Parts: sequence; C-alpha cells; structure tokens
Amino acid sequence: MSVEDRLKKVQEFTGLPEEEFKVLENKGPVPMETLDRMIENVIGVMPFPFGIATNFIVNGKEYLVPMVIEEASVVAAASNAARMARPHGGFKAIDTGSIMISQIQAVNVPNPFAAKMRILEHKEEILRIANEQDPILIKVGGGARDVRVRVIDADTGPMVITELIVDVRDVMGANAVNTMAEAVAPLIQELSGGKVLLRILSNLADLRIVRAWATFDKDLLGGEEVVDGIIKAYDFAVHDIYRCATHNKGIMNGIDAVILATGNDFRGIEAGAHSYAARNGYTSLTTYEKSPEGHLIGTIEVPLAVGIIGGVTAVHPVAKLAVKILGVKTARELAHIVASVGLAQNLAALRALAAEGIQKGHMALHARNIAAMAGAKGDLIDKIAKQMVDEGKVRMDRAKELLEQYSH
Ligand code: MEV
Repeated sequence: MSVEDRLKKVQEFTGLPEEEFKVLENKGPVPMETLDRMIENVIGVMPFPFGIATNFIVNGKEYLVPMVIEEASVVAAASNAARMARPHGGFKAIDTGSIMISQIQAVNVPNPFAAKMRILEHKEEILRIANEQDPILIKVGGGARDVRVRVIDADTGPMVITELIVDVRDVMGANAVNTMAEAVAPLIQELSGGKVLLRILSNLADLRIVRAWATFDKDLLGGEEVVDGIIKAYDFAVHDIYRCATHNKGIMNGIDAVILATGNDFRGIEAGAHSYAARNGYTSLTTYEKSPEGHLIGTIEVPLAVGIIGGVTAVHPVAKLAVKILGVKTARELAHIVASVGLAQNLAALRALAAEGIQKGHMALHARNIAAMAGAKGDLIDKIAKQMVDEGKVRMDRAKELLEQYSH
C-alpha cells in the first residue's frame, strides 16, 4: 500500500475524522519515500524537539551537544551540571575501543568441550572467513580480531557459544558483526558436530566501554551539605535496586537524547547499559566521591555501541547535522561525549533531589520565623516550629494556636 492508502485504511478502521490525521503530515526535511523505506506501514511522522546542551568540555574540547527528547528539564539539567565541571577542566573520557561481540550458538553438540578445542584450533580460518565479509572495514583498520568459545550448561542441554571479537571502528557494528557470524556459522557447525542456531551480536558490548569523569565544584553545587547529600543519594542507589533503576534511568535521559539526535540505536544502548549494570547484581553506572578539597568527583562506566557512519546516521539529514554540530571525527569521540552527558545528567538529578532535602531544612527555618512572628520566645520557637513541620502545617494560624496551647 502507499502511505495515502494506509492512512485511508486507518481512518476507516478508527472512524476518526480526516482532519485529525493532519498531525501526521510530513513537514520535515526527510522525504516521505525515505521515511517509508526506514520502517514498515508508515502513515506519517511524529516530530520531537531537538535541543542543544551547553557548557560541555570533554578532553579539553568545547562541544555543543544536540539532544532529542520529549522530557522537560533534561537539556537544562545537563547544561547546568556541565557548567559545574568547568572550573575543574570539564570531563575526561577514555575508552576500550570499538570492539563488538557476535555470538554463534551451537546446540546438540556431542562433546562440547572437545568441540570448543576444535573451534579454537581453527581460529585463523574462522577469522579469515569473517574478515572476507567486509573489505571496507578491513581497509579502515577494523575487522575480526579474536575468537572465544564458552560451553554453557543450559536447561535443554549444553551449548557451545562461539564469540567473534570484532573491531568495528566508526560504525555501530550490528550489521557488520551479524554478517560475520552468519558467514562463519557453517564452519562452526561442522567443527562442533552439532547444529548452529542463533547468529547475532550481543548488546552487552563490554569490550566497548567508555569511562568518563569530572570534578564538580562544591560552591557551584551549593556547598558541602549538597555534596554530602549527593553522595548519600548515590549510596542509596548502590544499596537499593528500586532507587538504582531510577538513578540509572536519569543517566539514560542524557545518553538516549544524544543517541537519538545522532541517529543511533537507543534500545541497543539501553540493553547494553542495564546488562552491564547488572553483571554482578544491578548497580549504579556512576560513582561519587568527595575530593580532599570537598569537591565532588563523579565517574561513569558504560558500554556505548555508537556509530557516526552507516545506519540512520548516514541517511537522516537531522542526524547528519547533529554529528556536524558536535564536530566529532570518530565514533569513539562521540562515545566520550555521550558518557559525559550521562554523568552530567545523573549529577544534575542527584543534586536536585539532594537539594530538595535541603528544602526541608529551609522549611524548618521558615517555620522558626513563623513561630517567632506569632510571638513565641526562647525554647517555644523551636518547639512550635518542629511541631508545625511534623504536621506539615507551617502557617501563622497554626503557630498562634500552638502558642496559645503551650502558653497555658
Ligand atoms: C527523571 O526522568 C529522572 C530522575 O528521576 C532521575 C533520578 O531520580 O535520579 C530525576
């Protein structure tokens, strides 16, 4: 069906008036044919805001960071946190390279451990076949580097899992490593003596880890109490999975927004981040410590399978522009920024949450003022203020009532 025919069908099915579907009209820069080719059964487009986070310095370079997200405050929060890292040089970031893992599952293997040896014995041949699949990747210095094999004891019997370790350079890498896995599968099947089933990348890209860190200024954060509050907030996440889910969600607010803006696969990034966080029991992707001077040192460690060429990044003009605004030359440089934004986003959320705790302190102060204004003196000020805070009624009428009560 054409886009118009599909629209008509949906209209008929829903019985909604024609005008209601006007919101799906494509007024953007991507031709309808392109959009129609990107996914199936397209009937229109849904625009999202494209914002710019400011103040980011990563590895000594200034960046304006494009973010696509529907949630208010995320862009402002990231920019604000990045500002607090500026007096101390901004963010530093390093990575372990653009290495992806592709898995080949062999089942019904008669002697799984002997099969593992045979597969490893033929490592060079496996790598050769894998590397025949993508001459361009080889030309730019990438390619399959290693083979590893594990025997897993599954419920339906042992499985021999062969993993290709592939340097994918500046692409996200899913297509490249999936093709390689499919190409080597017949040889793996033969060597294993069993049957090969799945041939697919792992989104737990734990050989593609990005580490970023920054020192956030204690005065810009709002003082020592806020720094301590942020560390307590972090500690809460480390020791409680319900909090940790939300803590890491805040990190992904930042990460996903840059991932989306640059046309990368945010589901893959999410799967990688959360599985990495769960590798030894689910925990925080960030850490926080206080420096000897009382500043807050934050770190993040997260797998980031991002590309700047290929995929949607290559065809979507907005994603292309996002990469140009960033001015990044490699996928690794993009990953450094993405990790830094994740850390900034988390810091901003924790600061706001910890400062709300401080709001409570403000409320206590406010209650003392009200009690004094109502006429309380000496110890009665604290007594009345405390009771009003406990009751959640910090008001002049209540202060007067309590004063009356306590004065008799
Ligand atoms: C909201 O999208 C994100 C936060 O809930 C994250 C957090 O609680 O750390 C504010």
